[in-house]
Amino acid sequence: MSTAEAGIASIGLQLPPLYMPVTELAELRNVDPDKYTKGLGCLDIALCPSGHDAATLAVGAAKRALSRWDGSIEDIGLIALGTESAKDMSRPLSAWVAEELGLSGTVRSYEVKHACYGGTLALRQALEWKWSGAGAKKAALVIASDVALYSVGDPGEPTQGAGAVAMIVDRPDAAAVSPISFPFSHPAFDFWRPVGDSFPSVDGQLSLDCYKNAVSECFRALIGGRDAREVLAEYRAICFHVPFPKMVKKSVIHLGEELGWSAQEAEELYRSKVEDALEWNQLSGNAYTASLWISVARALVGLKEGAPIAAFSYGSGYGAELLQLTAGPVAASAPWVSDVEEDLRARKPVDLWGYETLRGHARASA
Ligand code: HMG
Repeated sequence: MSTAEAGIASIGLQLPPLYMPVTELAELRNVDPDKYTKGLGCLDIALCPSGHDAATLAVGAAKRALSRWDGSIEDIGLIALGTESAKDMSRPLSAWVAEELGLSGTVRSYEVKHACYGGTLALRQALEWKWSGAGAKKAALVIASDVALYSVGDPGEPTQGAGAVAMIVDRPDAAAVSPISFPFSHPAFDFWRPVGDSFPSVDGQLSLDCYKNAVSECFRALIGGRDAREVLAEYRAICFHVPFPKMVKKSVIHLGEELGWSAQEAEELYRSKVEDALEWNQLSGNAYTASLWISVARALVGLKEGAPIAAFSYGSGYGAELLQLTAGPVAASAPWVSDVEEDLRARKPVDLWGYETLRGHARASA
């Protein structure tokens, strides 16, 4: 393989062992459940019990990605972990994961932070490391892993979630990624977590506006001077960062308005290219850095080799990037589906009491 051909060789996903339907949370908060299910488009919140965190999720996803790759741990020369659930201000979360995987030696190991955009940045850096030739014959292990919890009673509570996606950067068996991407950033305080705070602070309305503006800017750059309908029609699927599923729909409608489309045309774009890729996100909730990559993993399932998809990454603060991928030969059989099926089958529901106990624990241990 020439370094220019590097892409995503293998994918592994990990969801935590507990979940709660948002309708239960609605009962606890005395809110009409339709607000959470119809208003926000949410179904379940994936939850971590005591002893599970972003590091254990990352290890689980990495082991799965490694298990279906034809290389070995000695072939990994870089581990980059995108997260906003860091355990330490200095020690990178990648060190916890590398320790569990037995990964050490001539390996570059680090954590990447930019809110939900961190996983995408880690992937871009790993790809650029390979494309530049610096990675030589080594492969990279990239992981996006997060546990998203808001303070109890926060409007963001129904959007909580957790999950991890690991990707091995090597031959583009699962997906090729174009070196050409469309970044946009603009400093803002839309969502932030000051040092020492257990839970984020959010300016809800501003966060929606920042996200929609980033969508407009990135897609405008992708379209360039070309016909928007023709450009977007080329993609088999268009994936987005998913803070909550309705945000994605709102953004597609917003993009349609910016392009001068009718609401019906934008709805059709959403229905035909976007909606299906949200299936797993509705069951995980917001997994911050992992959210976009959960959606990309779902979108790749069953695609023919060469089928193009677009992937919009957003991280508060705020920074965004629109990536272009094409399905690799393994997407048709998509072995990573079994990760999600297995985790969904095994996970246990948490009732109101269980949730309150869990959050009490989360408050005490955060
Ligand atoms: P809220 O104030 O509780 O909700 O917070 P609302 O009153 O705006 O209602 C939400 C929707 O439900 C509305 O629909 C209501 O009409 C509807 P819309 O007008 O927007 O289409 N609704 C109902 N529908 C049916 N039946 C009912 C009913 N009642 C109301 N009975 C907010 C919503 C999103 C602000 C809150 O959940 C929040 O703060 N979330 C966290 C922030 C967030 O997710 N922002 C998204 C963009 S920023 C981002 O993506 C980055 C992030 O992932 C972090 C990172 O980068 O690290 C968050």
